[in-house]
Amino acid sequence: MAPNHADNGNAFADDNVRLDLLRERAFNLRWAELPHDVIPLTAADPDFPAAPAIRDAIAEYAASGVFSYGQVGGLPTFRESVARYLRDQRKSPVTPDGVIAVNSAASGLAIVASQWLSPGDEAIIFDPVDFLFAHTVRAAGGLPVSWSFGRNDALDLDHLATLVTSRTRMICICNPHNPLGRCFTREELTALGRFCTERGIRILSDEIWSEIVYAPAQFTSMLSLDDDIAANVVVVHGFSKSFGLAGLRVGYIAMIDPDQRARMVERSEHPSTVDGTSTLSQIAAAAAYDHALPWLESFVAHLRDRRDQCVTALRSIPGVEVHSPDATYVAFARIQREGVSIEALTDMLRAEHRVAVVPGSARWFGAGAEGHMRLCFATSEAILAAGMQRFVAGMAASANLPRPFLNEP
Ligand SMILES: Cc1ncc(COP(=O)(O)O)c(C=O)c1O
Repeated sequence: MAPNHADNGNAFADDNVRLDLLRERAFNLRWAELPHDVIPLTAADPDFPAAPAIRDAIAEYAASGVFSYGQVGGLPTFRESVARYLRDQRKSPVTPDGVIAVNSAASGLAIVASQWLSPGDEAIIFDPVDFLFAHTVRAAGGLPVSWSFGRNDALDLDHLATLVTSRTRMICICNPHNPLGRCFTREELTALGRFCTERGIRILSDEIWSEIVYAPAQFTSMLSLDDDIAANVVVVHGFSKSFGLAGLRVGYIAMIDPDQRARMVERSEHPSTVDGTSTLSQIAAAAAYDHALPWLESFVAHLRDRRDQCVTALRSIPGVEVHSPDATYVAFARIQREGVSIEALTDMLRAEHRVAVVPGSARWFGAGAEGHMRLCFATSEAILAAGMQRFVAGMAASANLPRPFLNEP
């Protein structure tokens, strides 16, 4: 059994995973969308219930029965909690007037891209990276330009310079990086920040994974860099990954300049009420930052053990290579099976071995993910053990399958 971490009792014990509820409520490639006997190691969404402090805050607010419209751009209490957190935990000089509550990190990305890009403008995004970046840029009428790099490559600014054109308006950073599980260093980020400032290119930094970091790796927020760099940065964050609140759809956009924030809110659909963030979700998110950081610490300790469990199992498979992620709760494994389609292999694992993973296809992560699979390990020790046992067995079987079978679409 994994050691019991901190004061959060058995928050991450095997029997704290409520499969009965997950099978009703966990969609997006997970328990509620798959046959009962399939283990999903798919979408990055934890199997554990949210922290008690968050549940209590929701219950207390709901019991009061008053659900009036909230303030445009976010409740003052929510924005204060976020600013305090960013100041204390991230060394980022953000005030409540620099914070916009949004209905998810995905929505935050969309708001920023739609305001920074005009049709035909270019935005540089990593490759591989989560599909949301290309999706968001395209939805705003922009053109995503891929900046390829590998797990251990330093950020190559000479290469970046070759991608910049007169239409380049923004660079989207994913830090820590999904799916590579990597934190960028302060030096790398500073050099990138200067590169962009000198060229008048804005930076959108998605930091949704910044709480799931394993020491000695260290996260640096782009908003904590020198003033001139931070002034050119907008951070997007959310509560789906660290606090398991994906279904509440809540996150924020943060920046230094209150005037920029005011313009961004004004140009969004928040004043019209077409868009906006549920007040109950903001209460939950504020409670996460105000009262659930000890829970989060225990969660990260649990995840570190699961990371090691997952990576050890993957490394036992011939033809599979994986870097142990410094951050995030996904492992991005390179699968060497000559002439084998990753999609067919993934389908076979699900159909024959009852374990689901995300194929490294261009649809999910860009062309640079080819030949990979992504496995989420934010579950209990027992479920991960069963899932990895099935994965290992499936990969062993795949080595003996006739190639034409595996290449079928
Ligand atoms: C880098 C990144 N940004 C944004 C999101 C979406 O987060 P949210 O649920 O807050 O929209 C994800 C989810 O996987 C992600 O990995």
